[in-house]
Amino acid sequence: MSSSAFLNWAHAYTGRVAGADPAAFTPRLGEAANLLGRDIAAGKLPFINMPYADSMTQQLEALTPGLARFEHMVVLGIGGSALGARALQKAFFPQQDRPGHKGPWLWIADNVDADSLEAWLASLPAEKTVVVVISKSGGTIETIGQYFIVRDWLRQQCGNSWAQHVVTVTDENNGFLRDEANTHGFASMPVPDNLGGRYSVLSGVGLIPAAFMGMDWKALVRGAKAVGAPLYANPDAATLGAHPAWQLAVWNTLLMKEGYSQLIFFSYMPLWAQFGFWFAQLWAESLGKEGKGSMPLPAVGVTDQHSTQQMFLDGPRDKACLFLTCSSLPEGRQFPDDMPEKWHFLRGKRFGELLHAEALGTRMALHSTGTPLVEINMAGSDEEQAGRLIGLLEITTLLTGWLLDINPLDQPAVELGKRLANAKLGAPGYDTETADLGAFLSAQGKQQEF
Ligand code: PA5
Repeated sequence: MSSSAFLNWAHAYTGRVAGADPAAFTPRLGEAANLLGRDIAAGKLPFINMPYADSMTQQLEALTPGLARFEHMVVLGIGGSALGARALQKAFFPQQDRPGHKGPWLWIADNVDADSLEAWLASLPAEKTVVVVISKSGGTIETIGQYFIVRDWLRQQCGNSWAQHVVTVTDENNGFLRDEANTHGFASMPVPDNLGGRYSVLSGVGLIPAAFMGMDWKALVRGAKAVGAPLYANPDAATLGAHPAWQLAVWNTLLMKEGYSQLIFFSYMPLWAQFGFWFAQLWAESLGKEGKGSMPLPAVGVTDQHSTQQMFLDGPRDKACLFLTCSSLPEGRQFPDDMPEKWHFLRGKRFGELLHAEALGTRMALHSTGTPLVEINMAGSDEEQAGRLIGLLEITTLLTGWLLDINPLDQPAVELGKRLANAKLGAPGYDTETADLGAFLSAQGKQQEF
């Protein structure tokens, strides 16, 4: 196991939470610990104790050799069925974006982007391509829409063997995609029961792509389990109160009470920057309820020092920050000795030292403006560490939801837009929405050209 990652709380309680007392939440520990113990035992929080891990490992080990015959993997999925895979891809498979890459290739189709889909289908060699359709519900229109088009393409390109090019990840028993898998005999892995999309990266959802890219996916699982272990081994109030996820949840709840409505996720691990976008969905979809929550703002160090940073530092004082660092990142080449005098201080230093210096500069600058900030310092940049980060952030999100008295596992508000889109497309059973669409469109007012 890697040496420890840690949270640096030195600059967390500053600004308007300077006098806040985290102990104010101590009375809630007993109730939260009971709930945690009960829900873990009932299998309702499988991202914490991963009761599915052994069977998943067996299934993934059985599936992986068959994936090796393909050069391209196309993932069809959206939201929690795609963002984790992309974060893992960018963190642990950067070679795909670099010169000279000879494969394999992972393509993640998580949008209604006819242009990209067309480009892929026009040039991918179907005989060397596996399509992984990921949908817990098995009925998400964007994913299923892509599936119909890609299924058609596979049939045309591969004839009778087309079904051997499809893997599904979906509910074990229910949904359209499960029916399709059964009908056509697709290779398949389940999304474990009670594992919601945005909490599911460490199941077949994220790990089939990870296995295809050759990652140490077992280490991802190990890392996340290690973070959850104290809680499922001994879910009492003392253990929970000492857990970093609880302390982050308390901090965030205090921040929200004091009007910090935005939470920057500033990644000074450049390859891990996509975890910010994965976290953004986890946080926003879990906590944005009943007027509560804080808006996650993924930011990339150092790139965004030249972009959104000005707003972070001198815009509205409504932002706190989770600041992701790792002191053992590769530092790369040394600056040459013939640097001009103006830059002489760089001579002999390594390129990566610039990142560390700028990370420190940004942390201090944020602190100087009174921005509450917790540094998440990873002990390394390997898969086990990523698993730890994933585990920590998932449990933090859950506990923050509980402290806000909202359900962090559902996402009811997003249904309305889906229903209206279905109505617009003429799906049956949406009479109210169809009438609402008519009223909305007729009230558009005048158009203004520019
Ligand atoms: O986190 C969630 O539950 C959602 O973001 C889902 O992942 C997303 O809506 C896709 O759903 P599904 O996996 O059922 O296609």
